[in-house]
Amino acid sequence: MTPVQGRPVIIDCDPGHDDAIALLLAFASPELDVRAVTVVAGNQTLDKTLRNTLSVLSFAGIQTEVAAGADRPLVRPLVTAPEVHGESGLDGPALPEPAFSPSPRKAWEAIIDLVRSSPQKVTLIPLGPLTNIALALRTAPDICSNIERITFMGGAARDGNWSPVAEFNIVVDPEAARIVLHSGVPITMIGLDVTHKAQLYPSDTEALRAMGGRVPTLVADLMDFYSRFHPRFGFQGSPMHDPCAVAAVLDPSLVTTRSLYVDVETRGELTSGQTVTDFYGVTGRAANVDVGLDIDRDRFVRMLFEAMKRYE
Ligand code: RIB
Ligand code: CA
Repeated sequence: MTPVQGRPVIIDCDPGHDDAIALLLAFASPELDVRAVTVVAGNQTLDKTLRNTLSVLSFAGIQTEVAAGADRPLVRPLVTAPEVHGESGLDGPALPEPAFSPSPRKAWEAIIDLVRSSPQKVTLIPLGPLTNIALALRTAPDICSNIERITFMGGAARDGNWSPVAEFNIVVDPEAARIVLHSGVPITMIGLDVTHKAQLYPSDTEALRAMGGRVPTLVADLMDFYSRFHPRFGFQGSPMHDPCAVAAVLDPSLVTTRSLYVDVETRGELTSGQTVTDFYGVTGRAANVDVGLDIDRDRFVRMLFEAMKRYE
């Protein structure tokens, strides 16, 4: 019997604690065939997000193409998030030096080549600012026809975490987000409306630690640092932003979505980076995004825990 082929995916990330956990979820899921990991500046500068990507994969004994991309947004200065992820971008647990080198090609080159050459349509899973994705789509618009879907973590229909109305990944590079949302590619937005309902609580962190094993323990240690940032939102736990995007590709039934028209504010003094979502069709514009609005948290956590167990 021929082995079941995983769905070909490319993950673009800016580790970042939740990016790291999302990578560990993806690589422990045989349903996915991760063709490459591409890296972007966001949570920290590119040199740090690249090192963090290589170190986390090395820690878990994973080797794949890791291609560095944009070290800044398309037109704006870079904004990073040391208050969330620390100066290293992955503060907390000690991680090993990378066991392998990054790819010689740029992220957008890897995305273009891998999508163009794939006999099966490729799903893109961006977990940071959308700069690399926008560069790939603008450099090679032909690849849109071989992209199954872009399921990205970012934005919010009705929420904000970096401004009252905008989410970090989109705030960092709203111009890139606008290019992606208007690309014509099928898009699922896993925004704060989903991820704020997918929190891991201290009891979950302890359950991970009790699981034992290097990777579950690493995730628990990552959560110990990451969880310091979220009480200011009144949360009892910490939102699993990026793992939600991977989970939504693994099992779309986890997330409730509505097809709506979404555009990105790029000029607002107070609203720059807002993913402006037309719930009532008042713009008359055709829906361009499947907007995530809810998630089955318990099934999501079970998926995450089952994946972590597979490392041991
Ligand atoms: O707003 C949350 C998003 O911004 C996540 O992707 C997190 O890693 C940061 O990049
Ligand atoms: Ca991220």
